[in-house]
Amino acid sequence: MKNISSKRVLITGGSGFLGSHLCERLLDEGHEVLCVDNFYTGRRANIAHLLNRPYLEVLRHDICFPLYVEVDEIYNLACPASPIHYQFDPVQTTKTSVHGSINMLGLAKRVKAKILQASTSEVYGDPTIHPQPETYWGNVNPIGLRSCYDEGKRCAETLFFDYHRQHKLKIKVARIFNTYGPRMHPNDGRVVSNFIMQALKGEELTVYGDGKQTRSFCYVDDMIDGLIKLMNSPDDFTGPVNLGNPNEFSIHKLALKVIEMTDSKANIVFKPLPFDDPTQRKPDISIAKKVLQWEPKIQLDEGLNKAIKYFRDML
Ligand SMILES: NC(=O)c1ccc[n+]([C@@H]2O[C@H](COP(=O)([O-])OP(=O)(O)OC[C@H]3O[C@@H](n4cnc5c(N)ncnc54)[C@H](O)[C@@H]3O)[C@@H](O)[C@H]2O)c1
Repeated sequence: MKNISSKRVLITGGSGFLGSHLCERLLDEGHEVLCVDNFYTGRRANIAHLLNRPYLEVLRHDICFPLYVEVDEIYNLACPASPIHYQFDPVQTTKTSVHGSINMLGLAKRVKAKILQASTSEVYGDPTIHPQPETYWGNVNPIGLRSCYDEGKRCAETLFFDYHRQHKLKIKVARIFNTYGPRMHPNDGRVVSNFIMQALKGEELTVYGDGKQTRSFCYVDDMIDGLIKLMNSPDDFTGPVNLGNPNEFSIHKLALKVIEMTDSKANIVFKPLPFDDPTQRKPDISIAKKVLQWEPKIQLDEGLNKAIKYFRDML
């Protein structure tokens, strides 16, 4: 059903993991959704169940090229997010963040749309303070293998704030921390999907380093709530705002949990840590709590169960 206060919403990267959940939620809320994707890492399967919805339109398009459409809001999610994918063609990764942002900001300026950038905790690099507040400027290697993603996203943030200052654009910048759930790409090497797939197939779970490095994992439904709340926040709130689950787990503990929850007989194998892999990641979400009244509700066991069910059904 279309809602009376329905908006026309463009979601770039709409057939990816987060984008497909966002398309679904906004359609459920009665909005018109234009899903734009070049299907680089996104899959039609992620949105197949939505294709008969009358207010969904899907457009194959690379945001490195300009786009002329009429919309009220733009969620800019297009960008490969896993190291395997973003390092496959690093120049294209930087282009997507930089040229893509310029194109989407230009569109927002032309049609006076509000625009949200899916930034990342990777802008903090290998952080020297813990947990990371938004005021921390980060510790990023500008010339490493991860730089195409980290520096691309940092430059995108700069562009968002310059368009805001120079052209008075209504912007929102979300710094997304590790998010997991159904529709993650099964082979993208991200730790949660990797462990679940390995455990379900009875293969060894690969832990890089000694496994003591920590991450905090946010379930996708919580993340989508956060992004929508940010988009709907007052115009004078631009962010950047951290969105993520502050509960911290070591990678080793996560591997043990996945083995237990999948009833797997798999063992854990330790491999050398990739260069530039951050040792700790945990969001300080005080601003999100205060301004957006947002905090994650779904804890790891409940979220993992849903993700395990998704990957089990897929296999
Ligand atoms: N999932 C996470 O844990 C996480 C964490 C931090 C930030 N993010 C950010 O959130 C966004 C979505 O991440 P995701 O996990 O859904 O990743 P994903 O790879 O599943 O989705 C990205 C989507 O963008 C599309 N895309 C890539 N380049 C494009 C281009 N040039 N033009 C048009 N479409 C393009 C891909 O085909 C894909 O559908 C990304 O910007 C990512 O950087 C995600």
